[in-house]
Amino acid sequence: MPSQISLWLTEKAGAFSIGPTIIPTPARGEILVKIHAIGLNPVDWKLQELGLWIERYPIVLGHEVSGTVEAVGDGVSQFAKGDRVFHATTTGTDNRKAAFQQFVICPASIAIKIPDNISFDQAAALSVGVATAVVPLYTQPTIGVGYQAPWNGGRRKYRGRPIVILGGSSSVGQYVIQFARLSGFSPIITTASPHNKAHLKSLGATHVIDRNLPFSAISREISKVTAAHIKLVYDAVSHEDTQQGGYDLLAPGGHIVITLPSTIDADDDDDKQIIPVNGNFHIPENLALGTIVAQQLPKLLEDGEIVPNAVEVVPGGLNGIAPGLKKLKNNLVSAKKLVVHPWETA
Ligand SMILES: NC(=O)c1ccc[n+]([C@@H]2O[C@H](COP(=O)([O-])OP(=O)(O)OC[C@H]3O[C@@H](n4cnc5c(N)ncnc54)[C@H](OP(=O)(O)O)[C@@H]3O)[C@@H](O)[C@H]2O)c1
Repeated sequence: MPSQISLWLTEKAGAFSIGPTIIPTPARGEILVKIHAIGLNPVDWKLQELGLWIERYPIVLGHEVSGTVEAVGDGVSQFAKGDRVFHATTTGTDNRKAAFQQFVICPASIAIKIPDNISFDQAAALSVGVATAVVPLYTQPTIGVGYQAPWNGGRRKYRGRPIVILGGSSSVGQYVIQFARLSGFSPIITTASPHNKAHLKSLGATHVIDRNLPFSAISREISKVTAAHIKLVYDAVSHEDTQQGGYDLLAPGGHIVITLPSTIDADDDDDKQIIPVNGNFHIPENLALGTIVAQQLPKLLEDGEIVPNAVEVVPGGLNGIAPGLKKLKNNLVSAKKLVVHPWETA
């Protein structure tokens, strides 16, 4: 049986180890992807160190990849061997579908073709951030807020409606800014370190407030920008202070999207909705949107309407994943995505 190498976690809070795995065969409706680049996400170190949500070991972690189609299962007509693709992977249920290895299985419906102007490294920096941005914006309540998507008549529709994006320079935040621009929200107010201001303005932010200010000062800066009621806050950071600060900014009837479990002290009488996001296109409730995004995103990328995160390649192949995750944990990554190349593993 042909084999590949995978990065295994064999016990809760254990260390990663590299070991051989059989290269899987795609079933009906699936494709096998030879991975060229893997994007690293903060959730990967949380899963490794805290064992959150993991029911079974050994497990392969990792949430996004790009590569080339190696084989297609029965019933797959939209892809052929050699096509350049990317997708958000999934962990916990099926190690064949996780990212930290050299080959991965993906449902063909949520694999996305890479346009010629996008490199493998850039493509590996897209899928989790895009999914986490679009699921809460364009899915109906209670999963999302239910805005009309740009590909469904909602392009520039929300002019004059402010959005506040806490953590605009995060991987997720950069895509939220860009989809907010496509949807027409204005002003688009975000928080980030001052050195990221020019980049975030190039993506569509109209106002960038220093994220190092106390939240009371951030609130004051926002009220100087707009007197309109804030009905949408996207908290891409979701620390306790940003969640509560973002919630308190909302006018009645407003929504706050959070990317981590809620720590908000809320009152039912507030008439404010908290939307926790699960940016995973593999789960049944997100699959339909994932299929639409797979069809729409290549053109948005080709036209430069969605721009991938800047990337930094961590050397060492799969051996680079542990040091890369440590950098994420220690908040040493600003406005970019770390990627590794699994075939460079020594
Ligand atoms: N629920 C889901 O499905 C889902 C999916 C993806 C991610 N997440 C979670 O969402 C969070 C963001 O993920 P990510 O991959 O986008 O993270 P990331 O890119 O690694 O985040 C790094 C960025 O966070 C910014 N930041 C840190 N603290 C901040 C603060 N107090 N205010 C404003 N910005 C701040 C930094 O900004 P500066 O450098 O400008 O200072 C930096 O650019 C993580 O907690 C992750 O686990 C959840």
